[in-house]
Amino acid sequence: MTTTRRDFLRSAAAAGLGAALPLRALAEDGFAALTARAARLQLLPDSYPPTEIWGYDSTIPGPEIRVKQGERVRRRFANALPQDSSVHWHGIRIDNAMDGVAGVTQAPVAPGDSFDYDFAAPDAGTYWYHAHNRSWEQVARGLHGPLIVEEAEAPDVDREEVLVLDDWLLNPESGQIDDSFDHPMMMSHGGRIGNYITTNGRYNLSLPARRHERLRLRLINASNARIFPLKLSGLAGWIVALDGMPLAAPSPVEDVLVLGPAQRADLIVDVLAQEGEDADLVHVDDPDAFSQVVFPVSGTASQSRRAPPAALPPNPNMNMPDLAGATPLRLVMSGGAMGRMQSAILNGERKGFRELAASGYFWAFNDMADMTETPLADLSMGEPVRLEIVNDTVFPHAMHLHGMHFREVSDKGEFGPLRDTIVMGGGETREIAFTADNPGDWLFHCHMLSHAPSGMMTWLRVT
Ligand code: C2O
Ligand code: CU
Repeated sequence: MTTTRRDFLRSAAAAGLGAALPLRALAEDGFAALTARAARLQLLPDSYPPTEIWGYDSTIPGPEIRVKQGERVRRRFANALPQDSSVHWHGIRIDNAMDGVAGVTQAPVAPGDSFDYDFAAPDAGTYWYHAHNRSWEQVARGLHGPLIVEEAEAPDVDREEVLVLDDWLLNPESGQIDDSFDHPMMMSHGGRIGNYITTNGRYNLSLPARRHERLRLRLINASNARIFPLKLSGLAGWIVALDGMPLAAPSPVEDVLVLGPAQRADLIVDVLAQEGEDADLVHVDDPDAFSQVVFPVSGTASQSRRAPPAALPPNPNMNMPDLAGATPLRLVMSGGAMGRMQSAILNGERKGFRELAASGYFWAFNDMADMTETPLADLSMGEPVRLEIVNDTVFPHAMHLHGMHFREVSDKGEFGPLRDTIVMGGGETREIAFTADNPGDWLFHCHMLSHAPSGMMTWLRVT
């Protein structure tokens, strides 16, 4: 006999519980639900059929999670997908057990099961959450959402907009998500690049604005592999934070702002376009530039422009790592189509490129194709590290460190802003530095998501 919902309610009432119990229980233990499930949404223009996506709470992007700095995020993640899953809270200086890496920091959450995420958000800023099991499929299907940690004192803006940039690889006839997630082409080239670009799930997002209005734009690149080159038109703006972390001083957006996969940028922009005109966030991918987000201007917020914005308040722990005392590490990235990798170690054995490819591996980190039993480095708490990254491939890669932010170190030894993801151009060598101050096992991988399972994944241990 199957229990229907009505049966359940009747027996609950008979037991004197009342239908309100589940809600009350939820409030008492403080865990709001976050459910991953399939849903059909009108992603494409109306002349197309709806698209089946996988979304958190059936939305694209997932529901915005917003807390004040220092507060806890508590979510009961329920998996209603036909696949194991887990949730990673990207960029949060998190307790390792809550990092959400299936198979590393927790067991995968099986279909029908749930997992309670409960962690503090120590840093204000723009973060995001996404699936971390078969992420090259699950994130592509739509499993991501914004995670906003508010400053104790909000900056002085008229309003803010969270803008989640994404691209989708869709079959143009059926309007459905192309399911060639594991295809060697996706793995061995630039990653899964979509043919349909959206902001907050819309291809034509339009946000009415007023002349001289001041907006905070929280940009999040949630795509699998696309690098978004962006420009402002009819807007004057400053970058005030990158990857969640405030810059020491606002930096004017002068030319192209490049946002790699997983990266975020917080902008403060003033609307300069005239009433009746449009301002735009422009996507400048050659040869065609198009409007990623349009801001039709009507009305006036104030007669004149405001003074330039102040910096956001710093987060705790933004110190510069000690370069002189730092442990030197090196990571050589190799492989991919048109690369010169001949062989690499897989499962402890040296294999030729063809053999690796036949097993689904196309890349290697320091000559290792699969993730090794031993970490790239075993670091002690508080140890400063400088890590040289050599991209010996012809493709760009977005390298992401879990659990800690780093700073790029220039040739002259100068520090760049704190980041959690760095875009490495083809053939480039760059250096990052950080203090290993968060204990646990932390992934360091390429956020071109199809590259991670095909050779571009390693990890660090901090004890
Ligand atoms: Cu946003 Cu391991 O990823
Ligand atoms: Cu990559």
